[in-house]
Amino acid sequence: MPDKVTSNGELKAELRIADKTWEVPVVVGTEDEHAIDIGKLRAQTGYVTLDPAYMNTASTKSAITYLDGERGILRYRGIPIDELAEKSTFVEVAYLLIYGHLPNKTELGGFSEQLTRHSMLHEDMKRFYDGYPGTAHPMAILSAMVLSLSSFYPEALDVKNRAEQEATIARLLSKMRTIAAFSFKKSIGQPFVYPKNNLSYCANFLNMMFSVPAEPYAVDEDIVKVLNLLLILHADHEQNCSTSTVRQVGSSQANLFASISAGICALWGPLHGGANEEVLSMLQAIKDDGSGPKKFVDLAKQKDSGFRLMGFGHRVYKNYDPRAKIIKVAADKVMQKMKQPDPLLDIAKALEEAALSDPYFVERKLYPNVDFYSGIIYRALGIPTNMFTVMFAIGRTPGWIAHWKEMMEDPTTKIFRPRQIYTGPPLGHYIPMDRR
Ligand code: ACO
Repeated sequence: MPDKVTSNGELKAELRIADKTWEVPVVVGTEDEHAIDIGKLRAQTGYVTLDPAYMNTASTKSAITYLDGERGILRYRGIPIDELAEKSTFVEVAYLLIYGHLPNKTELGGFSEQLTRHSMLHEDMKRFYDGYPGTAHPMAILSAMVLSLSSFYPEALDVKNRAEQEATIARLLSKMRTIAAFSFKKSIGQPFVYPKNNLSYCANFLNMMFSVPAEPYAVDEDIVKVLNLLLILHADHEQNCSTSTVRQVGSSQANLFASISAGICALWGPLHGGANEEVLSMLQAIKDDGSGPKKFVDLAKQKDSGFRLMGFGHRVYKNYDPRAKIIKVAADKVMQKMKQPDPLLDIAKALEEAALSDPYFVERKLYPNVDFYSGIIYRALGIPTNMFTVMFAIGRTPGWIAHWKEMMEDPTTKIFRPRQIYTGPPLGHYIPMDRR
């Protein structure tokens, strides 16, 4: 039934259960999305709603990112992703997401300066790395280290202390790349390279990753540009699994470091950010197998195979992921620059073509997602496969922060506490051991 406008101009929907009718408020978003507000439904009707995996549930109102999966639209604070990808930098986009507007020169200068000042890790944190085996997955290290920041900056524990919030945000955003680069250095047994204040956000990260004390290292500005692009494309994606996790944890008023550490764990899974690592393994397997992509497309269609085309499909995109489109073009450019074509890029393109001409993928509207081509670029930059999801996490940090901050500043925020439909045994009684 269409919305009904009440005498005081409010939009309502009518809900009928058996012979009773209730009016429930309708909330309308900027882009005319309509939502039925069921917040008081149980109190009014005795019913709850059931929506496993939140297939149809808006968990919040948010002013950060707009996404239309049917039309392949993505905007941060109203600005289309392709404009930001072409014209902006990761630091500027981080500011935009977190503070809600494009910074002027002074604001951007101040923000960059904060990120520069907060880049080092406490020396005691360096020792944590000694405790990890060389084979430790860098996502485990990243999550643990981010959580550990809360023990070095206890002022962040009081989430109501707004005066400290700016420094906490800058600390986290800045130290993410230091933590990530140190975990890479640990895994290859090289000395940690400290951040350098004369380098930009991305150049600083590349220097910490790839320079060694024994010889000079020049940061390539084209590579810096590509890295900025990738991080911008990953910077936010509204209420995805990891961001919802950050909000879920933050809703108990857990501090920023704890909330984002939890988000990093959620991102790690292969159905979410971990897919970029899986894509590379899949492309390598196709290459090693040698019989071409069709075999793998067919395998992905067999439900009992347990195999899916990694980097394909998305909960909300039922059209080409706009980020994947941009990354695909960037991958070609990077290959040209490197002058060493990666056979995995050709395999990825052939796989995409095979899948997109197959009715199974067409009918289900399964297109390449952000993870499909990103790994190929990271590989070309010399970033090892097990660091791909860490790269995603660095990129996603401004989005996580923006959502945590938006939630904390909203006076209507309550602790997240879904209900359930109990399906276990009815009332029973304790049976003593000798009678079981
Ligand atoms: N390969 C083969 N079949 C697929 C794939 C895939 N990659 N993705 C979805 N399908 C099929 C499902 O089997 C299902 O078929 P059915 O209707 O016949 O049962 C249908 O498409 C719908 O898929 P669901 O799993 O129900 O969709 P959901 O929204 O729950 O999952 C997800 C989305 C997790 C991204 C899924 O597409 C997937 O597993 N993709 C591969 C992993 C991946 O690339 N993840 C990264 C996502 S982007 C990101 O998080 C950064």
